[in-house]
Amino acid sequence: MKRDLLYVDDESDNVVVFEAAFEDDFRVFTASSGREALEILEQHPIPVVVSDQRMPEMTGVEMFAIMRRRYPHIQRIILTGYTDPDGMIDAVNQGQVFHFVKKPWERPFLHSVLIRAFQAHDLAVTNSALTDQLILSDRLALLGQATARLAHEMGNHLCLLPLVEYVEDNCGNNPDLLSLARLSRESLQRLTDMVHEVKSFSHVQQQDFVKQPLPLAEVVHELVSFLRFDKTVPFRQVFVEIKVEPTVLGNKVKLQQILLNLIKNAAHAIRGKIDGRVDVTLAADGSEALIRVADNGCGMPPEVQARVWEPFFTTKGEEGTGLGLDVCRRLIEAHAGRITFESTPQSGTVFEMRLPRLAPANA
Ligand SMILES: Nc1ncnc2c1ncn2[C@@H]1O[C@H](COP(=O)(O)OP(=O)(O)O)[C@@H](O)[C@H]1O
Ligand SMILES: [Mg+2]
Repeated sequence: MKRDLLYVDDESDNVVVFEAAFEDDFRVFTASSGREALEILEQHPIPVVVSDQRMPEMTGVEMFAIMRRRYPHIQRIILTGYTDPDGMIDAVNQGQVFHFVKKPWERPFLHSVLIRAFQAHDLAVTNSALTDQLILSDRLALLGQATARLAHEMGNHLCLLPLVEYVEDNCGNNPDLLSLARLSRESLQRLTDMVHEVKSFSHVQQQDFVKQPLPLAEVVHELVSFLRFDKTVPFRQVFVEIKVEPTVLGNKVKLQQILLNLIKNAAHAIRGKIDGRVDVTLAADGSEALIRVADNGCGMPPEVQARVWEPFFTTKGEEGTGLGLDVCRRLIEAHAGRITFESTPQSGTVFEMRLPRLAPANA
């Protein structure tokens, strides 16, 4: 496909010559003044512009100064017929032009300059996309650090939970006090969870945790039996099925953290659903252990599915941190495993983890 090129010159004879020389190689747009050229650029994103220097109203270099501000990636080539070294050198020094070419130009030379200009343009575009990404990940890292500090501070002030639970246990005869205590307990619990999530987010990067052979069935059972103490999870709606009992090399606390994150997300998804359930299944597929956490909750629309792994992406407003799944994914990868999901809006979501299975002899 031919690439777009804009040629600017007030002398129509020159325009004809230029078009004839290059129309086989490029799609040539033409303009007879700087103003007209700028108008064309508003309609078409053209990567390379060639201009005569001497034009009434606006010189080539003056026009390029404007273009450079508006479209920094456009490569600008100036054609100069008379010796104007000072102006030209200034223009090059100020980065106004990519190249200047003496008139009369010869086709092969100008052609090679044009080819290089297109390459320079494409490189500039790629570069700035990379720079944007770098800036973004830098910002995310800073945000992560600030959030971690904040979480640490908050964590220090969350020691009130047992106190509130004590009040709750001992004010059974006062319904008002009881419901206030429950409210406090719930929001304290939520804060504690969020602080944990943020802390583990900033820890995953640094920690190289100890791994040992683990019977997964035990890991799952232990975690699920803890759930009855976690009042944010309806443990009566969580069902465990152990089809196989694989052993993996892993860190128990980390694996339980992953499971807990997934179960909590599932529990959130079935909120308000009378027949809502969360199924935790342990199975195996060849050399891999499979852990599945399935719910029949709200599911996710495609635009949510596309973003779930992004740190800080949440649809839960103040209740979410958007870090849970990012932590899960990184922890699973640190276990040489993979995590994927399938979700159908209104009908539910299945998260599936695969971990390399230890042969029974090594276990
Ligand atoms: N089981 C699930 N069912 C429906 N949506 C889910 C489920 N798990 C995760 N999500 C979606 O993914 C988002 C990100 O999850 P996560 O990283 O754990 O952060 P958080 O739970 O703090 O929002 C959630 O806000 C939710 O929109
Ligand atoms: Mg979560």
